[in-house]
Amino acid sequence: MRANFGKIHKSGKNKSPNFTQKFSTTQSSPEKSEDEVKRKMAPVLQSSQPWVEKYRPKQVKDVAHQEEVVRVLTNTLETANCPHMLFYGPPGTGKTTTALAIAHQLFGPELYKSRVLELNASDDRGINVVRTKIKTFAAVAVGSGQRRGGYPCPPYKIIILDEADSMTEDAQNALRRTMETYSKVTRFFFICNYISRIIEPLASRCAKFRFKPLSEEVMSSRVLHICNEEGLNLDAEALSTLSSISHGDLRRAITYLQGAARLFGSSITSKDLISVSGVIPPEVVEGLFAVCRSGDFDLANKEVNNIIAEGYPASLLLSQLFDVVVETEDISDEQQARICKCLAKVDKCLVDGADEYLQLLDVASNVIRAVCNMPEEFQYDC
Ligand SMILES: Nc1ncnc2c1ncn2[C@@H]1O[C@H](COP(=O)(O)OP(=O)(O)O)[C@@H](O)[C@H]1O
Ligand SMILES: [Mg+2]
Repeated sequence: MRANFGKIHKSGKNKSPNFTQKFSTTQSSPEKSEDEVKRKMAPVLQSSQPWVEKYRPKQVKDVAHQEEVVRVLTNTLETANCPHMLFYGPPGTGKTTTALAIAHQLFGPELYKSRVLELNASDDRGINVVRTKIKTFAAVAVGSGQRRGGYPCPPYKIIILDEADSMTEDAQNALRRTMETYSKVTRFFFICNYISRIIEPLASRCAKFRFKPLSEEVMSSRVLHICNEEGLNLDAEALSTLSSISHGDLRRAITYLQGAARLFGSSITSKDLISVSGVIPPEVVEGLFAVCRSGDFDLANKEVNNIIAEGYPASLLLSQLFDVVVETEDISDEQQARICKCLAKVDKCLVDGADEYLQLLDVASNVIRAVCNMPEEFQYDC
């Protein structure tokens, strides 16, 4: 269910320019033309640039809460000796940020374009691309490693495969040979949410780094930093709401914050954040749970009817109800377990296309039975 919840907002993804742009190095004074473009675009960029990009840490050491990863990678930067890497963990925890930062710190702006190939889920990464583009890039030899402009510039290239778990198994298999054949001149960075979706032969060739969900304090401090920079006013309640609706995903938190700032100006309340995030207002979910706890089926039916009439998505209601149930302290573990079991079943039914109203009614009746300690299944006397 949490996975469902996590899918709602996936904005703020870094869009990489297409392959040809990245692969072809502009030989004739690249910095000059780039600078000119930047200068011309600056005012437009500043107003429309997503904050997720604007506040993306540029250096590995600025990545918060992933101390172990940062420690190992800082060493890597010093020796400029880097293995193939696999970054995995929940969304919005700094994986892409870390990969981009390390590539930038290794090569600097001058060499970055010719040494680093970024491909994410929006680029075609089927088996043909692996056999052609990736292989061609991987095969290119690079000069011996010599520091340039204060950057280590090691003698290899980096291929960043973001959201690698969305690559087909065939494409992943096709990568095995490329990885091995060109490992002297190319390092691969795989980034994914689910490590189990990366085939074992690839995973076993990489140094693996797990990214932890960000704690509430870390989220709050990053959010407050952005509020300071942007001149926003966020009270304590809004801050804690933002942390709880983002579930440790800082990208989501920043996106909600920017959405709320656009719509509601510089003073943002907890309600504003809830309305831009699309989550069901907590009082609706708590209301349904309270009615169920009263044991009155008619009232529960009315509440479910209201929820459906309001158009709240049932699957989202399940995940929010789940949070309410596990946080409720005055019901027993067994009662909580019974409710969670029902939520899981209903979640599956919804995925299979069952009717939302009937499924929510099923949840409501199961919650009533659990909290009133009625038997799990009805017994019919024949
Ligand atoms: N550990 C972190 N430290 C600082 N900022 C972070 C961290 N994790 C995420 N962010 C913020 O969230 C945004 C998205 O992070 P990203 O690295 O793209 O996440 P993902 O793990 O999904 O690749 C970044 O632009 C950055 O502003
Ligand atoms: Mg990412």
